[in-house]
Amino acid sequence: MFETSASDRLALVTGTSTGIGAAIARQLLLCGWEVAGVARRSSAIEHDRYRHLAADLQDAPAAVAAIETAFGALLGESRWRRIGLVNNAASVAATGPVPRLDAAELVRVYSVNVAMPLWLMGFVARHGPRGAAIRIVNLSSGAAVRAAPGLAAYCSSKAALRMAGMVFGAELDSPLRPADTPADLSILSYSPGVVDTEMQLASRSMSVEDFPWGGMFRDFAAQGLLVAPDLPAAEVVAYLESDGGERFAERKRG
Ligand SMILES: NC(=O)c1ccc[n+]([C@@H]2O[C@H](COP(=O)([O-])OP(=O)(O)OC[C@H]3O[C@@H](n4cnc5c(N)ncnc54)[C@H](OP(=O)(O)O)[C@@H]3O)[C@@H](O)[C@H]2O)c1
Repeated sequence: MFETSASDRLALVTGTSTGIGAAIARQLLLCGWEVAGVARRSSAIEHDRYRHLAADLQDAPAAVAAIETAFGALLGESRWRRIGLVNNAASVAATGPVPRLDAAELVRVYSVNVAMPLWLMGFVARHGPRGAAIRIVNLSSGAAVRAAPGLAAYCSSKAALRMAGMVFGAELDSPLRPADTPADLSILSYSPGVVDTEMQLASRSMSVEDFPWGGMFRDFAAQGLLVAPDLPAAEVVAYLESDGGERFAERKRG
């Protein structure tokens, strides 16, 4: 268990060890939020309102237990008037042609990219104080709607996460919404564009046999078209601080 601090806004952000997640966590801290980060590696962020949980989202049962223990009671504290969840962590493993994909690796990718984000949406809705505004951002991708050869696991998992957010939004306006679920809850499926991170580096490093579109990403990098993680991070933070609007919305960066 972690000690508490004085903010009245708490964000749970996955994948804060690097990339877009680290930029989101830093910007939230600058805006006065308390941030709970999750990643396998540690975070370089040192701040009295930042707490870090080292957990592997590939192992759903262990990750669920660790997150419940670390953040369950914290989320339920009555002082929160606003809670954010950013489902940012994702894996681009299990690449290559469909006939060569390994079942165990597919399960791990789906755990990180779909199962844990979906469970986390329920987690914040279940634990968050009833009067708090809850804003959820699911990091999406053009890959959720465009078929990239060699990326069946990544594309299909991003499509599944997008739909999971849509279904949860629909449930909130249906008889399925539990009476104790915070009323002011909205969800954004957000595509950050082509961002200069480790994930982009991995995309450029894949073999042409496994990922024929790798050349396109190498061209983007050569032309200086990648943006810094701070740009999408600012848009994610703006949504977390917003009135929310529709139950479910979709946006691309810019
Ligand atoms: N970069 C782009 O151009 C781009 C484009 C479209 C969409 N996106 C989306 O934006 C999000 C962030 O991407 P990014 O480019 O910032 O990725 P990144 O640089 O690869 O960072 C991914 C983060 O997720 C964490 N993570 C990965 N596997 C994990 C696991 N098993 N357990 C816990 N944490 C795990 C990593 O931490 P550890 O390795 O320490 O665990 C890291 O902090 C992703 O959802 C991605 O699909 C990115």
